[in-house]
Amino acid sequence: MTLDSHSPLDGKRLLLIIGGGIAAYKCLDLIRRVKERGMTVRVILTKGGEQFVTPLSVSSLSGEKTYTDLFSLTDEVEMGHIRLSREADLILVAPATADMMAKMVSGIADNLATTALLATDKPVMIAPSMNSQMWHHAATQRNFAQLQKDSILVIPPSSGDLACGEVGEGRLAEVEDMVAALESFFTPTGPLVGKHVIITAGPTYEAIDPVRYIANRSSGKQGYAIARALRDFGARVSLVSGPTSLSAPRGMAVINIESASEMLAACQNALPADIAICVAAVADWRVASEATQKIKKQDGELPPLQLKENPDILESLARTTDNRPSLVIGFAAETENVSANAKAKLARKGCDWIVANDVSTIDGQSVMGGDHNRVSLITATDTENWDNAHKHEVAERLARKIENHFK
Ligand code: CTP
Repeated sequence: MTLDSHSPLDGKRLLLIIGGGIAAYKCLDLIRRVKERGMTVRVILTKGGEQFVTPLSVSSLSGEKTYTDLFSLTDEVEMGHIRLSREADLILVAPATADMMAKMVSGIADNLATTALLATDKPVMIAPSMNSQMWHHAATQRNFAQLQKDSILVIPPSSGDLACGEVGEGRLAEVEDMVAALESFFTPTGPLVGKHVIITAGPTYEAIDPVRYIANRSSGKQGYAIARALRDFGARVSLVSGPTSLSAPRGMAVINIESASEMLAACQNALPADIAICVAAVADWRVASEATQKIKKQDGELPPLQLKENPDILESLARTTDNRPSLVIGFAAETENVSANAKAKLARKGCDWIVANDVSTIDGQSVMGGDHNRVSLITATDTENWDNAHKHEVAERLARKIENHFK
């Protein structure tokens, strides 16, 4: 149960490196606060950090194993330092001690924390904390400046009473300030911020019996590419996906379903939305009554399958009277008379735009499952042809069109 399911931290992964400073205790509260907001937190506790907080207290709050030792055989087997450093959306070093900052500047990798910092391909943020003389020392300030040049993000220290009894700058930022810095880092930016989009993608599976189903060749690649493009434009994305072999894109709600009826229910559940894009290859038919037991061969005869029409998700979203997304976009998979058939679909289903998708082969390669697509964007007034483009390019162009529409 999270505090706010729409927190920008929801679904994000933090690797927290707790350094050796008295303020390490604040990190225990930090872990709680970000977890309440839906973040997952893995922690590397440095040897110095272990002097102030214990692996047990950290694990009790993070709900994860706490990593301490670079040369631990079990850690390397379970989760090497490379994976640890890459399976995060952000690394936060708090408290970042003078020693840790100096090591980061020099690229020293003499323990698990510094090795992970060197091995990572993810953004790194530091929250410095130390005695104010140490903070103002020329060496620390030089290192601090260099770290910023190296694109390290900073949560600046505050002024006040220090643990050593002195007063000055060097206190670790308060927990709420660290949470705010993380939220601001993860707050989406882009032309579609504030817009919610529902995207259907992939095939649907219509069960015949517990082991068999009716499916189609859709890979989900085009729908997933559109979901990523719109996320990158700042939109809040709900991706309703049939079974695919693609990994779930980060930074969006992915709702996995199997059948067309489940897809419709998931879309209705995700309303209200500003935009709906139906990219899924929904099965037009389902088996009238799904067998509860595996259907056996009967004298070599195929038992007849009674089929029933599936709900049309695109049409139902386009024709809904309350909560209609202001822009409803469909895809039209066609193998012949592409433009004419697509225009007829646009009118029949009541959507605003349709992307006519020529699913015959491109250079002998099937569009279904391939990386390229041949589409035309058809609106009430216009047709644009986007010839043989990579599915990412189609996604990007569609996102730009949507941006212009809402301008
Ligand atoms: N669609 C849908 N629900 C269905 C069938 C289709 O939402 N039950 C959507 C698809 O996601 C796509 C559009 O409708 O956006 C057109 O799908 P397509 O398969 O091309 O057309 P059909 O309506 O199935 O018509 P036909 O099979 O006759 O071409």
